[in-house]
Formats: sequence, C-alpha cells, structure tokens
Amino acid sequence: MTPLKLAVLISGRGSNLAAILAAIQAKTCNATVKIVISDREAPGIQIAQAAAIPTVTIQRSDFPTRRDHETKITEIIADYAVDLIVLAGYMQILCGPIFEQFGDKIINIHPSLLPEFKGLHAPRQALQAGVQQAGCTVHWVTPELDSGPIIAQASVPVYATDTETTLSNRILEQEHRLLPACIQTIAENRSTD
Ligand code: GRF
Repeated sequence: MTPLKLAVLISGRGSNLAAILAAIQAKTCNATVKIVISDREAPGIQIAQAAAIPTVTIQRSDFPTRRDHETKITEIIADYAVDLIVLAGYMQILCGPIFEQFGDKIINIHPSLLPEFKGLHAPRQALQAGVQQAGCTVHWVTPELDSGPIIAQASVPVYATDTETTLSNRILEQEHRLLPACIQTIAENRSTD
C-alpha cells in the first residue's frame, strides 16, 4: 500500500518528528513526511532538513491574528495533498481554518493520560496532583483543547524521587513509541476506496 502522506507541525526540539522518521526508515511505519511546518525558529527543523524534507517556518508574530496565521499554514498543507496532519509538540492552539479543510485528519501527542492534565506542563501537573501513573495520549484533534477522541495511550509509573525532568523523559520515551505506532494503525485502517 502507498505510504500515508504526512504534514508534521512542530514548535521545538522535534524528538517526536525524529521518532516518526526513524520508524519510517525502519519500515515499521508506512508513511512519508511531505512537509514539516514550524511556528517559530525550532531546532526540529534541522532534523527535517537533514532528512531532505521540505520545511517552512511561519512565525505567529508575522500575522495580525491567530486565524490569519492558521489560514496560511492550512494553505501550505493543502499544497502537499497530505492524508494526515501530525501535531508533534506544536504549541499553537488551533482556532478554525485548519478544521474547515482537514477536520478529521489531525492527530496530536500530549504528555498526559487524557482527560487528566490538559494544556501546558502536563508532567508538572501530574507531579503536583500526586498521581502514581502518568503517561501520554495520541488523540484526534478537535477545536476543544486536548479533548478529541483518544487513539491510544501509554502509562509510566511516577516515582517519589521524580522531578519534572525525569518524569517528562520517561513519558517522552513512550511518546516516541506510541506516535509512530498510531500513525501505522491509521495507515493500516485507511479506506482503499
Ligand atoms: C512532547 O512532550 C509532546 O508531548 C508535547 O511537546 C513535547 C514535544 O517534544 N506536546 P518534541 O519537540 O517532539 O521533542
């Protein structure tokens, strides 16, 4: 079957992007990354460039409104005719235009066991709440933040000695496994019509 065509949106270091690329390379994920888009100067862009993937940085500050910024990104994605948009550490809240065109084609990785600990600093929220299990979630994206249908989750233990960094790193290891696995599931389940 033809590889699932992806647009990957990032804002930071891009370790989840790297995990997707490694899984594609290892042939455990039947996908191809067509374009990587960042909303800021992000180290992850270099990961894409090293893999000869087209990249574009669309700074939020260059647009008067969140909607204008998202419209520009939506137009770029449309040029690449992708099957799936992957938010891999993308830090902008989506507000509308992208859903009008790609409403049922966007997934996100979030570092908590949703519906617990939505929003920023989820591992910190987990530590503050004193939970014994934390983890990550891959879910379909809807206009309500971190609330769309869950595709899969992975749990990790929380230890009494954990800091935000040690817990985040333990969760991140699972993110790197879970996100490519979910993309592969979507690739396998797509309709062949
Ligand atoms: C990950 O923890 C992801 O869950 C969160 O932002 C982080 C991105 O990391 N939304 P990276 O840029 O993929 O390394």
